[in-house]
Amino acid sequence: MHKIPIIAVFLIFGCTTALADDAATEGSIPYDRFEESSVCADCHVGLTVQYEHSLMAQSFIHEWDEKEYFELALPHAEKFAKVAGVKAGCNGCHAPLAYLAGDIPPEHPEAGTRANEGVSCDICHSITGFSGETPFNFNYVMAPGETKQGTRPGRESDHHGIAVNDFLKTAEFCGICHNEQDPFGMWVKSTHLEWKEGPYGQAGITCQQCHMPAADGALVEDGDVVPGARQHTFAGVHFPQMVAGAVQVLLYPREDDVSPGQTMTIDAVLMNTKAGHMIPSGSAEERVAWLDVKAVDSAGKQWHLAVDRKGFEGEDLTIADPNALAYQDIADIQGLDDFAGLSRDGDVPAGDRIFRKPYLDPQGRMTVAQWNTAAFGPDYRLPPLKGIKESFTWHLPADVAPGPVEIQAAVYMTMVVSSVADFMKLPATESEPMPMGQATVAFMVK
Ligand code: HEC
Ligand code: HEC
Ligand code: HEC
Ligand code: HEC
Ligand code: HEC
Repeated sequence: MHKIPIIAVFLIFGCTTALADDAATEGSIPYDRFEESSVCADCHVGLTVQYEHSLMAQSFIHEWDEKEYFELALPHAEKFAKVAGVKAGCNGCHAPLAYLAGDIPPEHPEAGTRANEGVSCDICHSITGFSGETPFNFNYVMAPGETKQGTRPGRESDHHGIAVNDFLKTAEFCGICHNEQDPFGMWVKSTHLEWKEGPYGQAGITCQQCHMPAADGALVEDGDVVPGARQHTFAGVHFPQMVAGAVQVLLYPREDDVSPGQTMTIDAVLMNTKAGHMIPSGSAEERVAWLDVKAVDSAGKQWHLAVDRKGFEGEDLTIADPNALAYQDIADIQGLDDFAGLSRDGDVPAGDRIFRKPYLDPQGRMTVAQWNTAAFGPDYRLPPLKGIKESFTWHLPADVAPGPVEIQAAVYMTMVVSSVADFMKLPATESEPMPMGQATVAFMVK
């Protein structure tokens, strides 16, 4: 009498543990197991509108994503065995529906396939966990279907079941796609790992707290107001209002009164006060954040000041040099002749400090092809809540007008270094400098 139920329990248990551990693989789940986000939109109106503005809704159709996959990664994967895995792999994060359905490579966005849905509502709300020790490279465990993974006990829907799963409240959930190891074993994306070892990770302040603000409101049209409903903004570097004020700048001229011909030093103390990870993070291979400092005298004449060198290894890669070339691997990828490379630092003014982590290809040249990264240069980015001090030593020219001299400092970021953006013919917004922080201070010239 007792035996049958015990065996049944073991069978069910054995079966669910196997599912709980295994990452969903390429070609293992057909498209029709996932609902379209437009279905969720019928009831979850407000959340859907926010989500649609986010890059996760556009992760396959966004112009630069389309170009990088079809014009760089895919051709590279087809000719160089070491990186062959990215043909499918890019889609594990950018077009997860296509990856899971085995629709690889997906057609271009204009074909209108379900790859276009990107990181859809139902993708995230089917994730139950990740396989292994570290979340990275789309090692999601999936349970798609009628029941959606949620977080709030006691809620009900006529359309779907709700499984309360605290995993959705963790940063590890995001790390599944926000950590990436490339074919050379390099951590080419490490937003979650940076977070984990930084002060926000230590304090348990999750990604969700900044990227999914908790605001009282309804989860569905005409629903009850629930406290701290997780908004689906997912705003990042593509939202200038997120970037604005992310870096605090303070300026300290070492003297109050100077004379033309004298040398004086201005210190700048910078801090990333707003982001829970490095600035830049994620696609750090293509972002440039930089500090620009100029002096303006009482007659309005301007001088651009170059940053003082600190002398660390690889520092040249962190100081803008209009003559430096990089990204030569584009020629190998696209089969170009006579391609010397592109300007390494784009439009960043000569002598400005660049906060970046240089990604180096197997030949040691800087690359924006993160999957072709075999080593890194110095990690000179802005860590969360940690200061960075820069100094600017200026030999005052003889023609500085007497009176106050204003020092103007500003930190900017561009999403894609302008030389690459121009070469790939990306929309202007990708390489427009976005202000992150600024400061002014004055001293007197006798
Ligand atoms: C299934 C994979 C996946 C998961 C899970 C995921 N993301 Fe993303 N996320 C992406 C991809 C892919 C992009 C890049 C979109 C693009 O620019 O093409 C992205 C972009 C973003 C951006 C925009 C960055 C920018 O450039 O502006 C933010 C913010 C973000 N994700 C936050 C989160 C947070 C917070 C979580 C966890 C709650 C999360 N993501 C979970 C795949 C994922
Ligand atoms: C017919 C309307 C309807 C549709 C369509 C719908 N939902 Fe829901 N959903 C609800 C209702 C109602 C609730 C409960 C809201 C409440 O209690 O305030 C809910 C709750 C949820 C929750 C749980 C909230 C929590 O706090 O845990 C999640 C997650 C969710 N829906 C995701 C989705 C996704 C993803 C889709 C599309 C694949 C979707 N829903 C489609 C009506 C709908
Ligand atoms: C304390 C608030 C805070 C926390 C915690 C936080 N972020 Fe951010 N994040 C920001 C801000 C502010 C920006 C915009 C500045 C920038 O782009 O660097 C940003 C930018 C981003 C970007 C774009 C980065 C770039 O340079 O391209 C991604 C992707 C992202 N966050 C994902 C995450 C993930 C994943 C986590 C958790 C592991 C997380 N964030 C934790 C505040 C936060
Ligand atoms: C990148 C992954 C991701 C995407 C895409 C996503 N969600 Fe969510 N969603 C989450 C996470 C994570 C939570 C829980 C956050 C928490 O509580 O910390 C959540 C929470 C919710 C909730 C409950 C909010 C609350 O406070 O109870 C609803 C409802 C919901 N999502 C619906 C949707 C709908 C509808 C879409 C598409 C328009 C969508 N989600 C897209 C990750 C995602
Ligand atoms: C492990 C998940 C993952 C894999 C694999 C992955 N990406 Fe991404 N990708 C992301 C995330 C997350 C972001 C957003 C990071 C940020 O904004 O800083 C991103 C950003 C990008 C961007 C920048 C978008 C922008 O607007 O700046 C491009 C282009 C891109 N990915 C292309 C690719 C290509 C091509 C591949 C394959 C070689 C690939 N990705 C593989 C997760 C992934």
